[in-house]
Amino acid sequence: MLLTGGAGFIGSHLADLLLARPHVRLTVLDKLTYAGSLKNLAKHENDERFRFVQGDVADADVVLALVRETDRVVHAAAESFVDRSIADASDFVGSNVVGTYAVLEACRVSERQLLYVSTDEVYGSTTAGSFTEDDPMRPNSPYAATKAAGDLLCRAYHVTYGLPVTIVRGSNAFGPRQHPEKAIPTFVVAALDGRPLPVYGDGSNRREWLFVRDFANGVLAAFDRGSPGEAYNIGGGHEISNLELARAICRLAGAPDSLISFVPDRPGHDFRYSLEWDKLSAIGWKPAVTFEDALTETVAWFADHRPVEVSP
Ligand SMILES: NC(=O)c1ccc[n+]([C@@H]2O[C@H](COP(=O)([O-])OP(=O)(O)OC[C@H]3O[C@@H](n4cnc5c(N)ncnc54)[C@H](O)[C@@H]3O)[C@@H](O)[C@H]2O)c1
Repeated sequence: MLLTGGAGFIGSHLADLLLARPHVRLTVLDKLTYAGSLKNLAKHENDERFRFVQGDVADADVVLALVRETDRVVHAAAESFVDRSIADASDFVGSNVVGTYAVLEACRVSERQLLYVSTDEVYGSTTAGSFTEDDPMRPNSPYAATKAAGDLLCRAYHVTYGLPVTIVRGSNAFGPRQHPEKAIPTFVVAALDGRPLPVYGDGSNRREWLFVRDFANGVLAAFDRGSPGEAYNIGGGHEISNLELARAICRLAGAPDSLISFVPDRPGHDFRYSLEWDKLSAIGWKPAVTFEDALTETVAWFADHRPVEVSP
C-alpha cells in the first residue's frame, strides 16, 4: 500500500494501524515539510515491510512510479494549517490541488483504488444541525477551498473515468504527535509551561473534536468497507467551544484558568462544524475513546515530549 503524508500527524497514526496488519507492506511518500517528521515513524524504521520515500505529491513522475508498484493508495498529504493558508495559499494550491491531481492521474492510468482524506471544512460553517455527505460545499478559508478542489476532482475522476476513489471528510482530530501550531497542542503546551493560552475572539467558536486513533480507524473503515465513489463523514467527536476546551486543558494540566487570554479573531473564522456520520456507522465504525480519556492521554503525551519545538 502507498500512503502519502505518512510523516504527519494523522498519516503517522494511519501508518501504525496499517503496519499492525501482518500482511501489509507500506510505502510512505512525504515531502517532510515543516509539519512532517521521521520521528513520527521511528517505531517502524526497522520493519522490513516499511519503506520511506521523501518526495513531493505534486511531482507526477515520482507519484506514478510509486503508484505503479502498489495495489491501493491512501492520500493524506496536504498543507493543513488554516492560518498559514490565510497568510499565503501558494503551497496549499501546489500540494493540495496539484498534488491530488497527480495522485488521481497516477491511480487512473495504473487502475488503482484510492482513498482521499478530505475535511469537514469543505462544507463551511453552520450554526445549527449537522452536515450530511450530500450537503453542498461552501469552503471559507483558502485551506478549505484547496481541500474542496481535491475532493471535487476525486468525484470527477469517479464519474468520468470510473476511478474507484473513496472520500472521507473528517472532523477536527487531536492527539499525540499533532504539530504544536494547532489549537489543542498550542493550549496544552502553554498550560504546561504556565504561559497564556491564546483563544481567538471571545472563545465561542465551536469544534467537534475526535481522537486521532478513532479518526484513523474511520479512514480505514471507509476504505475497507465503504463503496468507491462515495464520501463518508467521520463525525462522532465531542462538540465544545474553544473557551470550554481551553478550560478543560487548564484543568488537566494543573494550570489556572487565568492563563486564558483572548486574542484577535482569525479572519473568516468558521463558527462551527458538525457532521452526521450515519453512513460510516452503517459500515461498522464508531469512536472508541471518550473525549476526556483522549484529552488526558494527549496532555500526558505533550508533558512527556517537552520541549516541543514550534516551526517558523
Ligand atoms: N488534523 C485535522 O484535524 C484534520 C481534519 C480533517 C482532515 N484532515 C486532513 O488529513 C490530512 C492529514 O492532516 P494532518 O493534520 O495530519 O496534517 P499534518 O500537517 O500534520 O501532516 C501533513 C503531512 O503531509 C506532508 N506533506 C505536505 N505537503 C506535501 C507534499 N507536497 N508532498 C508530500 N508530502 C507533503 C507533510 O510533510 C506532513 O508530513 C490532510 O489531508 C488534512 O487536510 C486533517
